[in-house]
Amino acid sequence: MPWSEAQALGVAEMDATHREFVELADALRLAGDAEFPALFAQLHEHTRRHFDNEGRLMKACRFPATGEHHAEHLRVLGELAHFGRGVAAGRLAAARRYAEALPGWFATHLATMDAALAGCLRRADEARLPRTESRAGA
Ligand SMILES: [Fe+2]
Ligand SMILES: [Fe+2]
Repeated sequence: MPWSEAQALGVAEMDATHREFVELADALRLAGDAEFPALFAQLHEHTRRHFDNEGRLMKACRFPATGEHHAEHLRVLGELAHFGRGVAAGRLAAARRYAEALPGWFATHLATMDAALAGCLRRADEARLPRTESRAGA
């Protein structure tokens, strides 16, 4: 599943992170056994930062569905930790099946929870703009 601009949500930092996620998940799916463990660890770490940052953005715009979104992030981090332990113990097959399923999870998460967060951030941004302009013009 390559990144497509159709997946952009109009919030630059979220879009940049999502593009990296898609590229990493794609590389993981195509990786040979020798590269798989390092790439899995890289995707896990990237996802931790991705979700931490969205947590910060949820706070910044007082996102109403923070609890639900945060719980979903924790669930996925739990899965990544679980399969990461398997990979470290040399069990690649289960983690490979999980890696195959990740793009499907991401597409749904992007279209629902992340799209809602991006909408919240865009509205907060638009609400700030006129005040900034009127101050600049005063
Ligand atoms: Fe996201
Ligand atoms: Fe998210």
